[in-house]
Amino acid sequence: MRTQVVIIGAGPAGMLLSHLLAGEGVESVVVETRSEAYVLARIRAGVLEHSSVELLRQVGLGERLDREGLEHRGIYLQSPGERHHLDFLDLVGRSVWVYGQTEVQKDLVAARTAAGQQIYYEVTDVTLHDVEESHPWVSFIDAQGRSQRIDASAIAGCDGSFGPSRAAIPERCKQVWERAYPYSWLGVLAAVAPSTDELIYAWHPDGFAMHSMRSPELSRLYLQVPNDTDITDWSHARIWDALGARLGDGENGWRLQSGPITDASVLPMRSYVQAPMRFGRLFLAGDAAHIVPPTGAKGLNLAIADVARLAPALAALVDGNDDRLADAYSEAALRRVWRCTHFSWWMTSMLHVGADPFDAQLQQSQLRWIYSSQAAATGLAENYAGLPFDV
Ligand code: APR
Ligand code: PHB
Repeated sequence: MRTQVVIIGAGPAGMLLSHLLAGEGVESVVVETRSEAYVLARIRAGVLEHSSVELLRQVGLGERLDREGLEHRGIYLQSPGERHHLDFLDLVGRSVWVYGQTEVQKDLVAARTAAGQQIYYEVTDVTLHDVEESHPWVSFIDAQGRSQRIDASAIAGCDGSFGPSRAAIPERCKQVWERAYPYSWLGVLAAVAPSTDELIYAWHPDGFAMHSMRSPELSRLYLQVPNDTDITDWSHARIWDALGARLGDGENGWRLQSGPITDASVLPMRSYVQAPMRFGRLFLAGDAAHIVPPTGAKGLNLAIADVARLAPALAALVDGNDDRLADAYSEAALRRVWRCTHFSWWMTSMLHVGADPFDAQLQQSQLRWIYSSQAAATGLAENYAGLPFDV
């Protein structure tokens, strides 16, 4: 088999890249280890930056987002006894959209399937070959157990943090930066109307809590928990009690409505960046190159920004043999990656409670500064609502 670009991974990065490449007249084949049903059902974060929304609209993926997505002017930031609204529209003129990554994924798969995109699901043994040559290739075993080989002009590694693409760049040719955090998130999906119109990020001495949502009937909530947390220690009653205490149920007349929990899991947090994001004819995008903790809601948006930059670069490379954009890809993408890495680390460090009481005082001082200073609030808003693709 031959194609112009082999895309490894059918997450949002890989699927959006195949869509953008098709828009540039470039043919691709996607290979994915999981089943289509699995990929469509994964629960992930759900905030889209202004520029992500604009891009999805521009490429014909905005219809359901505009109908069912929830546009938010900003977020609430709080500590015990006080809740403050940060109005991003007033502060920086940009809003954000709450539209689950699961929904983005459904729209992408529907659009690509309608367009006849070739996608191999449930493959095994995916191996990258000759990535330093002008004609790299990928081998794998397909769902029927047949050995397959796809020759291409470029490979896009969109296979997340556990895929083979990032490892295909030799150790001596790359640099990795990592930060582990001493806490995790316990995330729940609950069949109850959100108790808030916009997301609440709460600092609390017991630990961080967050109230997000998926739809007018579905809430998504998170609690900071220790890294070794066993989910079976957390009964639904215990989860609601902790959420109520940390989010301020009963404070200033606000009530947290509880309801049936339909999904609960513990999510580790880490920061990770690998550079370069291009090696020969292999290009990394999304989680394959970088991971951010979820506190800044940047993971999906960074994946979108990467492929928005990568698609025209690949088109110029494989169609026109022009490698200028391809040569610039890694450095330009990494500038944005590091901005979002810093913002995600900063939000995480400001809101999660650790062992050191000195840190807790600094956090509360930082929060009071954001509550009271337009300059400080604007910095948060500018990053949260999203900087332009070319930051
Ligand atoms: N071969 C093919 N596909 C693979 C392989 C492999 N060996 N290993 C992993 N994959 C697939 C995974 O099953 C997954 O579907 O690659 C895909 C990677 O998708 P994501 O993990 O969703 O990553 P990405 O598309 O970069 O999206 C980034 O996802 O993790 C969140 O917070 C992150 O929101 C961000 C977004
Ligand atoms: C979510 O809705 O799942 C969500 C929202 C914002 C975050 C993280 C997760 O910062």
